[in-house]
Amino acid sequence: MTIKKGFVLGAGIMGSGIAQLMAQKGIEVTLVDMDEAIVKRSLAGIEKGLQKRVEKGKMTDNEVKDISSRITTSTKMEEAKDADFIIEAIVENVEIKQKVFAKMEKITTPDAVLATNTTACSISEIASAVSNPNRVVGMHFFNPAVVMKLVEIMPGVSTDPAIVEKTRALAVFLGKEPVVTAKEGIAGIASRVLAAQLNEAVWVLDEGIGTVEDIDKAMKLGANQPMGPLELIDLIGIDTHLAKTRTLYEKFGDPRYRPCYLLEKMVHAGYLGRKTKKGFYDYKQDPPAPMKLN
Ligand code: NAI
Repeated sequence: MTIKKGFVLGAGIMGSGIAQLMAQKGIEVTLVDMDEAIVKRSLAGIEKGLQKRVEKGKMTDNEVKDISSRITTSTKMEEAKDADFIIEAIVENVEIKQKVFAKMEKITTPDAVLATNTTACSISEIASAVSNPNRVVGMHFFNPAVVMKLVEIMPGVSTDPAIVEKTRALAVFLGKEPVVTAKEGIAGIASRVLAAQLNEAVWVLDEGIGTVEDIDKAMKLGANQPMGPLELIDLIGIDTHLAKTRTLYEKFGDPRYRPCYLLEKMVHAGYLGRKTKKGFYDYKQDPPAPMKLN
């Protein structure tokens, strides 16, 4: 693999998983977020996850040491200066993404790939913030990034086919099964198809037709899904799911994507799902119990 140094911006759910995956495959990676506490928490989470694999006999202590030694954390985007491959995994907001891409273009070498893990922001819109949009590509991992096999790769209108190929090769190197979309489409394939279903589950809850548990049970047992839709939204993050459905609704005007107001209330109240330990379920309880939502 020609990628020697990776750079991941955003040390949240996805950024931590992507950085861990790169390090597991032998790539030196710098993981950056806005403040020290976030990157420390993220690294501690990665190490805790790896330690669990040691306890299960799936990894040795030495392997964990090697993987951890390949991850450097920082709060400075300037660390991207010698990276070959940049993956942005910050908050799902196109204006903020554009700002960081404009900054990153100045910091990085001209050959470095500028990839975004966005769920539903337009790749071409993000790329419009840089002077060379040919370098910008969508590289969408699924959650948890270390485990899920799919990576969707999506070119923007101007993305160089060589950049798409480099991205596809990296996904294969990371042990993933890439799907490259023929062209840009909001939210690609899996997230777009799934969004309508997840959204419907929230409406069914809001209309009082089923409880949180019943809705998840119905979809697990009736549609043979490994996780219920509400559990899955908690895993994704209520804020991220809301941002995605808002974008889909705005772009397509299709009522299937109209976000339920319940999601907005939950975000205002800090009910972001697993990452804040409260969402449709209360993760402070073991096992998680349905949350009382007014
Ligand atoms: P998250 O909320 O867990 O983490 C986002 C991180 O970005 C936070 O740590 C935040 O401090 C950081 N951040 C925000 N602005 C920043 C800036 N200007 N510079 C540096 N760091 C900044 O979000 P998550 O879930 O990791 O999502 C990140 C991206 O990945 C989003 O675009 C999302 O749509 C996408 N995604 C999310 C999936 C999921 O299941 N959560 C799945 C696939 C893609």
